[in-house]
Amino acid sequence: MTEANKSDLILSKGLDNIIVAETELSSVDGQNSVLTYRGINIHELAGRATYEEIVHLLWYGRLPSRAQLNELKGTLAAHRALPDDIIAMIRTFPRTALAIEVLRTVVSALAMYDPEAQAISPEATRRKAIRLTAQFPTIVAAFDRLRNGKEPIAPHPQLDHAANTLYMLTGTRPDPLHAQALDTYFVLLADHGLNASTFVARAVVSTLADLHSAITAALASLKGPLHGGANEATMRMFLEIGEVANVDGWIADAFAQKRKIMGFGHRIYRHGDPRVVHLQRLARELGEQAGDTRWYEMSLQVEKAVQSHRELYPNVDFFSAAVLYYLGIPLDLFTPMFACSRIAGWSAHVLEQYADNRLMRPQSVFIGPKENHFLPIEERG
Ligand SMILES: CC(C)(COP(=O)(O)OP(=O)(O)OC[C@H]1O[C@@H](n2cnc3c(N)ncnc32)[C@H](O)[C@@H]1OP(=O)(O)O)[C@@H](O)C(=O)NCCC(=O)NCCS
Repeated sequence: MTEANKSDLILSKGLDNIIVAETELSSVDGQNSVLTYRGINIHELAGRATYEEIVHLLWYGRLPSRAQLNELKGTLAAHRALPDDIIAMIRTFPRTALAIEVLRTVVSALAMYDPEAQAISPEATRRKAIRLTAQFPTIVAAFDRLRNGKEPIAPHPQLDHAANTLYMLTGTRPDPLHAQALDTYFVLLADHGLNASTFVARAVVSTLADLHSAITAALASLKGPLHGGANEATMRMFLEIGEVANVDGWIADAFAQKRKIMGFGHRIYRHGDPRVVHLQRLARELGEQAGDTRWYEMSLQVEKAVQSHRELYPNVDFFSAAVLYYLGIPLDLFTPMFACSRIAGWSAHVLEQYADNRLMRPQSVFIGPKENHFLPIEERG
């Protein structure tokens, strides 16, 4: 029997409606626009839990006690620094490299410096997840500073994950609202069912490959504009539109040309993404604090204009664009910021996949010629 000739197999090009794993991590109810992390509604967590609490919830199954939280924070803070060789390597990268390419490459390289790189026990995988989660912002900030002719800044051991990320980028302690906004952004993006990059991470470790391999592949998948690249693409769209007054015309043209509007639509949420309301609030607060609500207002107007053409809802990347822009994050660091959060979910899914593994091996339908023959080179036309 040839591959996928069985009549009971169905063709699902985007794997729509195919279940390949069981998870206890997050549930994404697209009909009712509900997202939960281990059963806790995201609306209870956003603005109340910190990113480190969510990391604990995802990796250890429950929200931490104060002592557990302090221990996790201390461990993460202790692992933020990068090996000198890695910093030296980043110095050699072209300044024109994209930050997401740098992150993907450095994560792959870090495997060669990790004492447990090949180990796949839950304990070793959790320790590596801590190291990678702690190091992600350091990698991104080091590259951003070096390409701007500045030296990397050592992580600040007293600052929490989000605040330290902003600190390493700018060299100054962040404004409390900025730190809080990035922390909430990290909480909102930490996990999201079997999205493309998470699926990729699980597929990689289904071969019993290691965590660094899975995370490198997940980063490659996140990069695309249909996935994590949409936050940057959304901001580029806003910059191209330029003024709120230009929105309606710009969107009408885009629909006329059948262009996709970045930051809209979702494979699972058909009636709206529950994370949006929190990101919208953050964009407004940051805009008001900055005394410049243009990008917030443009977001609202784009949403209105899109919905006057078609029933499409903004997704997580839509209001993320204004949030990250108000935080002063360079455009090509938007997708790496998404990754700095999602590493928590990727690692948790890797742990789940190892615990109940089956090699992922879907099938394809062969649609080429039924019969063909070898021709010696001198007889080919
Ligand atoms: C996320 C996304 C890939 C989901 O796609 P999907 O589940 O495959 O949905 P489909 O492409 O089948 O969309 C259904 C219809 O809505 C349209 N549509 C979906 N998203 C759209 C968008 N952002 N702008 C304009 N039209 C859109 C499709 O063109 C399709 O139209 P049709 O029925 O006339 O052919 C898609 O909505 C998209 O490309 N969005 C923009 C990128 C983005 O924001 N990605 C981040 C996701 S969190």
